[in-house]
Amino acid sequence: MTKIAFIGAGNMNGAIIGGMVKNGVDPKSIIVTNPSPEKREALSAKYGILNTADNLEAVAFADTVILGVKPHLIVEVCKNITANVNIDNKCFVSVAAGCLLKTIQAALHENTAVIRTMPNTPAQVGLGMTGIFANEFVTDEQKVAVEKVIACTGEFIWLESEAGIDDVTCVSGSGPAYFFLFMEAMEQHAKTLGFTAEQSRLLVQQTAFGAASMVVDNPEVEIGQLRTNVTSKGGTTQAALLQFTDGGLPELVATAMTAAHTRAKELAKN
Ligand SMILES: NC(=O)c1ccc[n+]([C@@H]2O[C@H](COP(=O)([O-])OP(=O)(O)OC[C@H]3O[C@@H](n4cnc5c(N)ncnc54)[C@H](OP(=O)(O)O)[C@@H]3O)[C@@H](O)[C@H]2O)c1
Repeated sequence: MTKIAFIGAGNMNGAIIGGMVKNGVDPKSIIVTNPSPEKREALSAKYGILNTADNLEAVAFADTVILGVKPHLIVEVCKNITANVNIDNKCFVSVAAGCLLKTIQAALHENTAVIRTMPNTPAQVGLGMTGIFANEFVTDEQKVAVEKVIACTGEFIWLESEAGIDDVTCVSGSGPAYFFLFMEAMEQHAKTLGFTAEQSRLLVQQTAFGAASMVVDNPEVEIGQLRTNVTSKGGTTQAALLQFTDGGLPELVATAMTAAHTRAKELAKN
């Protein structure tokens, strides 16, 4: 594993760092920065990693730099790095939503190796899903190094074009919230049946977890087939599913995902 600098000690970088250390990466090969001391010192104490308030010191230390600040800060952070540190042969990885490669490259050097990723929140529990796109300056060796980092947070796919980042955004990026909404609605109805809040949550979370695990454990079986397998003709499940299809759920899901896709493109444009 190469040396990695995390710019920003926030949620996403914290999740990646946690995954890396849990997967046996040497904590002394990781440095995290943050202007205020609390968050970086907390990560440092929890995982035994190095920390500094100085982005330049961290970048100088590392081969791979993970840019984990809010999107509107990326350009400012990159310009400051480029003006003060030799970034030749370093690979920069952005997890920022809506920040285009051309914007990041313009703030670094035009020929800097830059990777854009679109992770999602389950990265915090090691079950993330990330889309990755690399510009033409990223070497195979750098790709492998970044794969090793992202793999510590869950699964990933390489994308063939930067536009794929918007596609991933509307599927897995925003996706956890789609499932949360569905679970919330189920939990709400369970409560109206008289279950306690605790029971309602357990009934829903275990069902969601079980269903997702069945999908994961049976890669050769299509998801539609798994549904058919548990839907007896004239039974309770069929009665419920008919309401979903008659109510246009598949079309609604497509409309919702298209809205997320459109919004991702708008944010990138702005
Ligand atoms: N959270 C997610 O699930 C998720 C999913 C996909 C993509 N992302 C992307 O991940 C990035 C970070 O999101 P987040 O949720 O982790 O945000 P966050 O928790 O707010 O983390 C950002 C961190 O950057 C620090 N920071 C601010 N200015 C800095 C500077 N000049 N140098 C170094 N660090 C600086 C902030 O410190 P202070 O708080 O002290 O200002 C904060 O700790 C965003 O670009 C977001 O689009 C996040």
